[in-house]
Amino acid sequence: MPSDTRDGARWTGNGPVVLVTGGAGFVGSHTCKALAGAGFRPVVYDNLSNGARQAVQWGPLEVGDLDDAERLAAVVAAYAPKGVLHFAGRIEAGASVTDPAAFYDANVAATLTLLRVMRAAGLDAIVFSSTAAVYGDPDVLPIPETHPLHPVNPYGRTKRMAEEILADLHTAEGLRYAALRYFNAAGADPDGDLWETHQPETHLIPLTVQAALGLRPEIAVFGTDYDTPDGTCVRDYVHVADLAQAHVLALGRLLGGGAPLVANLGTGRGHSVREVVATVERVTGRPVPTRIAPRRPGDPPTLVAAPDTAIAELGWRPIHAALEAQVRDSVRGERRRAGLQAPDDGGPLSASGSAPP
Ligand SMILES: NC(=O)c1ccc[n+]([C@@H]2O[C@H](COP(=O)([O-])OP(=O)(O)OC[C@H]3O[C@@H](n4cnc5c(N)ncnc54)[C@H](O)[C@@H]3O)[C@@H](O)[C@H]2O)c1
Repeated sequence: MPSDTRDGARWTGNGPVVLVTGGAGFVGSHTCKALAGAGFRPVVYDNLSNGARQAVQWGPLEVGDLDDAERLAAVVAAYAPKGVLHFAGRIEAGASVTDPAAFYDANVAATLTLLRVMRAAGLDAIVFSSTAAVYGDPDVLPIPETHPLHPVNPYGRTKRMAEEILADLHTAEGLRYAALRYFNAAGADPDGDLWETHQPETHLIPLTVQAALGLRPEIAVFGTDYDTPDGTCVRDYVHVADLAQAHVLALGRLLGGGAPLVANLGTGRGHSVREVVATVERVTGRPVPTRIAPRRPGDPPTLVAAPDTAIAELGWRPIHAALEAQVRDSVRGERRRAGLQAPDDGGPLSASGSAPP
């Protein structure tokens, strides 16, 4: 099996091999690091459409598309993984409104292809990246997993459908699964090994950090007249390293024969857009130019998780819950992504200086 392993890949453990679709992306790459730290051996399957080759550092990279069932089956046969972590997919909610078919292909059809390949190989444990977008505009806060699912865009609907497919396959065939509903993934690897590399970037914290560092002229604040303490939208930011840890725990549960799980991953605390801007200004010591813009359709005023299920069922703790810590790691990540050396940036830059991970 030809593999595309980065020189010096750290595949050290001798625990179970696991397949990580989308492992070259933001959450997937951080999870590979956590998996390796827990003794698993992650094999990344990614088409690099939105991920970075250099982010795959803890095992082999197999470049391929989820649509390519033959290639996927060959990778599964070559490595004989014991479980799958499925991150790959399209992620921009706004783009899903203008090109829904692409999202149904990438997030529903491709998930079905993966599940078929898994079934043919006798592989029956999967941790799935779901999202708070399955809830839509919430009736109660914080949002429990039992809240009705009324997604307001095709992206959220694709994730709800994928969750339904997993539940049906569990009932029919005993598929073991965990659907983890992330709220707003934030931060970057606290050791500085990895960072966010979305193209285009649409997430508030990296955009705000980029504006503070002069890497973009300003950020838009979409709506200042919401029914929130300061009028701007409130979101639950959860550190990517904490997300990664939850995946390791969920995988351990499935491989240990545990029951299916649907769990929110958030801190249970919300922060407004203005709070994020103020925190970035404090951490960087620089002003963030902001432009007030109209509300965006489909943006609920407040989204905050009730994370009790993950805490009780997985023993999960979001230990990097403080917004300031998330912003600090994000600032370091953005500096590295841009090739900027900073006085407070503990470690050296990557060999090429400006290469993103
Ligand atoms: N980032 C967030 O805030 C957030 C929140 C909720 C849910 N999620 C979900 O978590 C998952 C990971 O998010 P992320 O932020 O790391 O995204 P990402 O775009 O950084 O990572 C996704 C990876 O999947 C790969 N990929 C996409 N389509 C593929 C295909 N057809 N075949 C093979 N590889 C493919 C991309 O190249 C990329 O490396 C996604 O499923 C996303 O919907 C993310």
